[in-house]
Amino acid sequence: MPAPSIAITALDPTSFAEATGRLAEILRACVHEGASVGFVLPFDVGEARAYWRDKVAPAHAAGSRLVLIASLDDDIAGTAQLDLDSMPSKRHHAEVSKVLVDPRLRRAGIARALMAEIERRAEAAGRWLLSLDTAGDAAEALYRSLGYELAGVIPSYARDAFEDRYEATRLMYKDLRRS
Ligand SMILES: CC(C)(COP(=O)(O)OP(=O)(O)OC[C@H]1O[C@@H](n2cnc3c(N)ncnc32)[C@H](O)[C@@H]1OP(=O)(O)O)[C@@H](O)C(=O)NCCC(=O)NCCS
Repeated sequence: MPAPSIAITALDPTSFAEATGRLAEILRACVHEGASVGFVLPFDVGEARAYWRDKVAPAHAAGSRLVLIASLDDDIAGTAQLDLDSMPSKRHHAEVSKVLVDPRLRRAGIARALMAEIERRAEAAGRWLLSLDTAGDAAEALYRSLGYELAGVIPSYARDAFEDRYEATRLMYKDLRRS
C-alpha cells in the first residue's frame, strides 16, 4: 500500500473552529506523553480545548497568528503555529510555536513538512528571522536537522509536566536568508 501523503494547510476561521476538537486531542496526548509545551498534569481535553479557543483563536482571527495543520488521509495528524505579532523594529521576525504531532504518527516526516510550510510562508511575509524555544530532545533534533542554531539555554524555565521540578529551555533561531 502506498504511504499516505501529508497535506499541509493553513486554517481559516471556519476550518479553525472545525479543527479545534482534534487539535485539543493532539495537544492533550502530547502533554500526557511528557512534552514541555506550557502545560502540567492534570490536563484534560477541556483545558486543551480552552487553549485553542481562548489563547489561539483570537490571535488567529486577528491575523497575527498562522495556524497550520498536517493531514493524513483527511485526519489531522499535527499542527504548528507562527506568531507574526511583532513590534515595528522586528517585522522581519516571527516565532514558531506548538509544533505538535500525534504521538502515534511520529517519525513520518509530519513535523518536517509543517516546518517547511512555516518557513515558506514566513519568507513570503518578509519574516526571515525565525526563533523558538524548546525543551525536548526530539524537538531540538528536529530543529537542528532543519538548520536552526542554538542561541542559548535558560535554566529552570518551565515546570515539568509530571513532577515538581523545573526544566531548562533552549532558545533556537534560523536566518532564512542563509538557507
Ligand atoms: C518534535 C516533534 C514535533 C517531531 O515530530 P515528527 O513528525 O515525529 O518529526 P519528523 O518525522 O518530521 O522528523 C524530522 C526529523 O527530526 C528529527 N527527529 C524527530 N524526532 C526525533 C526523535 N525522537 N529523535 C531524534 N531525532 C528526531 C530527525 O532528524 C527527523 O528526521 P528522520 O526521521 O529522517 O531521522 C514530535 O516529537 C512532537 O510532537 N513532540 C512533542 C511536542 C514538542 O515537543 N514539540 C516541539 C516544541 S514546540
